[in-house]
Amino acid sequence: MPGKRLFSYLIALVVLGACGAVSPWQAPHYQEHPLAGRIWNVAEARFADKAELIAALVSADFILLGETHDNPDHHLLQAEIVSAVAGAGRRPMIAFEMFDMTQQQALAEHLKTSPEDSAGIAEAVGWRKSGWPDWQLYRPIAAAALHAGLEIRPANMSRAQARGLAQHGLEGAEPDFIAGLGLDVALPAEQQENVRQEIDDAHCGYAPAEMIDAMAFAQSARDAHMARTLNSGAKEDGAILIAGAGHTRNDRAVPFHLRRMAPGRSILSLAFLEVSEGAPSPPAYAAPFNSQSLPFDYVWFTPRVDIRDACERFEEQLKKMQEGKAAAKNQL
Ligand code: HEM
Repeated sequence: MPGKRLFSYLIALVVLGACGAVSPWQAPHYQEHPLAGRIWNVAEARFADKAELIAALVSADFILLGETHDNPDHHLLQAEIVSAVAGAGRRPMIAFEMFDMTQQQALAEHLKTSPEDSAGIAEAVGWRKSGWPDWQLYRPIAAAALHAGLEIRPANMSRAQARGLAQHGLEGAEPDFIAGLGLDVALPAEQQENVRQEIDDAHCGYAPAEMIDAMAFAQSARDAHMARTLNSGAKEDGAILIAGAGHTRNDRAVPFHLRRMAPGRSILSLAFLEVSEGAPSPPAYAAPFNSQSLPFDYVWFTPRVDIRDACERFEEQLKKMQEGKAAAKNQL
């Protein structure tokens, strides 16, 4: 480093030191938590460093990166991983849960005319109407992928399809559609019960009891659809999935379907989990998954975006949805 630049660098370090360290995190809560920033190797029950994790990811055919949707740190770390995997010479396809099949054409057309324009994706696919958190949160992942020349695809089935399944369950669906997703073979009973529990918990007891089976079926169908997208889009360089952590759990979600669809190909599931107050050790984070152990290969702990009670937030969201529906009705 030339003398003048080295000097400026040292001055910057001194100033930063005097002002206190700049936090590497965007999420505001529990940045000082003992697990924040640590990586946990689940099978070996020990902490791992980033080099070990990247090496494991680079050698897997399917790389599943499970997130909390509104946590910007999760997306920045996903983007870092995409760059690291591409930097190691891999060119996997990358599929997003947040895009569905109805957006496939618009996404492909946009990327054909503007192959590096990650910002323009939002408008091209009508992201604002989709209900997902701001595109700016996801944009770093898309930017890293496009910079590396990776193909981006939607992973999810359409909302209309999922709603149809949630209303009518297996009986309401075309047999070919079900067979194409491999859902004619039921999940093992224990895992089915685990999905039902997830649906019940996620809707804070508001999901009508008589609908839970069909909603659980819709959730599994989404998993199977994402697995099929990964398997069909993956060439020799494999594929990466960006999805909620629940979809990336090894015991029953996308990995379960991938194992059936692509036997012999390797899968690595990394979940980014937000730390909780009073939970200083990794095994404590298995309970929210209704599981004895963490259902991932690795977990990367980060600070938390929102410390309000999850069901309080659910009720707020539900109220907004109901107000939106009432406003739309009044306009007719
Ligand atoms: C603030 C959180 C949430 C709210 C307010 C909410 C609300 C709803 C509502 C009103 C429906 C009825 C169908 C519709 O109109 O879309 C529904 C369906 C559904 N929800 Fe949730 N939900 C939330 C979180 C979750 C989570 C975390 C999961 C995942 C475990 C989930 C899984 C499902 C599934 C599988 C369906 C069936 C239809 C579909 O897949 O789109 N929901 N949700």
